[in-house]
Amino acid sequence: MNVYDSGRMADVLAPLGYAPSDEAESADMVILNTCHIREKAAEKLFSELGRLRPAKQAREAEGGRMVVAVAGCVAQAEGEEILRRAPWVDLVLGPQTYHRLPEMVARAARAGGAVIDTEFPVEPKFDHLPDAAAAPGPIAFLTIQEGCDKFCSFCVVPYTRGAEFSRPAAAVLAEARRLVAAGAREIALLGQNVNAWHGEGPDGSPWGLGRLLRALAAIPGLARLRYTTSHPRDMDDDLIAAHGELPQLMPFLHLPVQSGSDRMLRAMNRGHAAADFLRIVEKLRAARPDLALSSDFIAGHPGESDADHAATMALIREVGFAQAFSFKYSPRPGTPAAGTALQIPEAVKDARLAEIQALLRAQQDAFNRSRVGLACDVLLTGPGRHPGQLAARSPWLQPVHLRGPDGVAPEALVGRVVPVRILAAHPNSLSAALIDADAAPGAGMGQPEETEVACA
Ligand code: 5AD
Ligand code: SF4
Repeated sequence: MNVYDSGRMADVLAPLGYAPSDEAESADMVILNTCHIREKAAEKLFSELGRLRPAKQAREAEGGRMVVAVAGCVAQAEGEEILRRAPWVDLVLGPQTYHRLPEMVARAARAGGAVIDTEFPVEPKFDHLPDAAAAPGPIAFLTIQEGCDKFCSFCVVPYTRGAEFSRPAAAVLAEARRLVAAGAREIALLGQNVNAWHGEGPDGSPWGLGRLLRALAAIPGLARLRYTTSHPRDMDDDLIAAHGELPQLMPFLHLPVQSGSDRMLRAMNRGHAAADFLRIVEKLRAARPDLALSSDFIAGHPGESDADHAATMALIREVGFAQAFSFKYSPRPGTPAAGTALQIPEAVKDARLAEIQALLRAQQDAFNRSRVGLACDVLLTGPGRHPGQLAARSPWLQPVHLRGPDGVAPEALVGRVVPVRILAAHPNSLSAALIDADAAPGAGMGQPEETEVACA
């Protein structure tokens, strides 16, 4: 979501003459868009700010100016503290106020002091943002939902991103059409609780994410859809059915469960038991048998016993994930879990995390190996690392490398959905060969208006 937000900040600043730059040191403005989810992510901000300081001072010594802005969830949570630790920062703005960036830039220039805006404005920022600019490639993000009302014991999101908010269906559909017109072939719908999305459809009836996905799948030229991140509690039957109906909806779902222990799930305030998650997985697999699953796990949440950890390992074994993220519990200021006396020693957290990661690694390797020999469609995303090579993305989100057809510039093929056979599996990627590589250049390659067919 921060990648999407950064793009939208660039859209807001474009009318003022700002354009994205590859180099921070020579830029007129540097915005650090930050994450507060775990302590490590938040700490990165201060090391980056330390690195920027000499560049800003050098610019000022030459009579110039570099505006340094801190945006995102660390800004939201630590506003004044950032200015105390890094007084050379000019702007501090939360994730809900970046539509006001032009006004803040002007205010900072006039006042010459730091400007802070970490409000949760009544007017949703989406009503004040210009249309999203062209996607830089065939894969685009589209935020449809923000914030969270679930208040899991460990999580800062409800405090930093604010209350749950769904963008209207019409606005989402219009943005998706613009992205497709600008070259996007795959759209990932984003939200902290994306499957809690709800809104009024064009017919006036209440829509959930399943209905929205069906409407998006009808956009000509939009070959692939994904959505992330979901909560098990919001995985309703209509959304599950959409997985069985829509070939555009890729057979990959990220569905965080956090723990396999009911005792821990209660302590985490997740609002579901392990068996509820397993039932959802069963229904999803019944609807879409080739669905690959991903999840999030936390090792060492306060109060977690060896038996709770064993229950998490058992759940991982039972489900079998194609990939997953796992984290050591990180106490976040202001969250209920951070205040309990039941903290788990670091060494225990480390050991449990290592066990979870070894199992997930083995499952990911097995999943990647199981792709070898399959025929499937991939989306070509750009030139590969070596001459003549193409980079692509599989239906299951892995990067894919393949040799392009002779005599065709890779750039000419970007955005095509093409059939390949998977040749080899690597830890985080796949290699493949075009199935009709011997045909005339470009022959058999899915044209932009074709939709993708499911993998064998
Ligand atoms: N400590 C460790 N992991 C966390 N996550 C969220 N908050 C914390 C925390 N305090 C993880 C959860 C969530 C993912 C985005 O980050 O697994 O699903
Ligand atoms: Fe955080 Fe997700 Fe829980 Fe919301 S549902 S509090 S975003 S972990």
